[in-house]
Amino acid sequence: MSPARRVSGLAVSPIRRMAVGAPEGTISLALGEPGWPLPDVAREALAEVGAAVGALPYGQNGSRPELVDAVAAWHGRSGTRTVEVRPDQVTVTSGSQAALFALFQSHVEVGGTVLVPDPGFVSYLSLAQLCQARAVGYRLADDWSLDAAHVVAALDTHPETSVVVVNHPANPTGGMATAAALATVAEACARRGVVLVSDEVYRELYLDERPAGLHDVCDIDAGVVLGSVSKAWGAPGLRVGWAVGSPDVLAPARVVHNAMTTAAARPSQDAALALLRASAEVLAEAREHVRRRWATAERVAPRLLGVRSGTTTRPVGVRSGTTTRPVDGGARAGFYLWLPLPDGIPPQDTTGFALRLRDESRVTTVPGDAFGPGGAGWLRVSLGGPLAELEEGLARLAPWWKA
Ligand SMILES: Cc1ncc(COP(=O)(O)O)c(C=O)c1O
Repeated sequence: MSPARRVSGLAVSPIRRMAVGAPEGTISLALGEPGWPLPDVAREALAEVGAAVGALPYGQNGSRPELVDAVAAWHGRSGTRTVEVRPDQVTVTSGSQAALFALFQSHVEVGGTVLVPDPGFVSYLSLAQLCQARAVGYRLADDWSLDAAHVVAALDTHPETSVVVVNHPANPTGGMATAAALATVAEACARRGVVLVSDEVYRELYLDERPAGLHDVCDIDAGVVLGSVSKAWGAPGLRVGWAVGSPDVLAPARVVHNAMTTAAARPSQDAALALLRASAEVLAEAREHVRRRWATAERVAPRLLGVRSGTTTRPVGVRSGTTTRPVDGGARAGFYLWLPLPDGIPPQDTTGFALRLRDESRVTTVPGDAFGPGGAGWLRVSLGGPLAELEEGLARLAPWWKA
């Protein structure tokens, strides 16, 4: 027996892989999930499901209509302009990961091409592979923000592309996208009939200004925006996410999602509904949790937030030799610290160095090249976890970056 060819080469996520063989007492700064408590409204909704007498039905294919309405209402209000979102412009999925799966399966041909950021979220690559398609990485700007010119150039070089993914604030880099860059990419995709997917699952975890979103600059039907309760609503284990976009694009994806899993788990839908209805409080609190984590990093390991490169201080998240805005003084969102390797460690040793950190200092990070070749020479450090572990983990990391 051998597995189907499209699955060969697929392995456990490199993020999970770092944990395999880790010495006892290793602290994980690898997993990209919030480590603060599940908000009470979700806990209460789950308790209610547990206390209810009677059957627990599948429910509607897709999801509860109230949840679709809540996503539509929240999405419509959450941008810089209020827009009306209809229920047929929303699909609720088992995490945004399932939305990505369903969108790729329904819009990418065998042998087709998906354009993804390099470095970018690891699942973009494996989900393209499951379509027997090619994920082609496009370059990001030197401060890791979306550079529309690189996306347009990649579209010109790969006219067979059927889906483009943008992600902002980005995993793993924390990179942003300006409204102008999003508008340019949306226009380029529309002109070519390419489906644009804007992964905005970290958008609400901003510290200062709310980052731009795709639907701030174009119509709902011009591109699909992904959201999720996993990050900003603090509930990754619920596995509830959503896609908002054109019914023409979402309808086939909905069929794929139904075929795959019918619908997100019913108790999770109830909890997600409670979270969305309490968005104002839940999101304000989440931003406080994130702010506290960045403040902890500044206190415990200030050097990591301004790593020296040669004779100049290189703000973390900015490639050496560039004069782009300092990350410290600019916008920050999400909970990833994108850390250049210490001076003297070559980019080809990215994984080797991450393993040394793990084995000698008992702290796991994610080697940047796990996110694509553009991440070589960098590590992703997640600040999302519990504060006490974060503090100890950063204290173990800091000595490797000498003043
Ligand atoms: C950029 C990005 N998109 C999507 C996901 C999937 O999240 P979920 O399926 O939990 O909504 C993740 C998870 O880490 C992510 O980092």
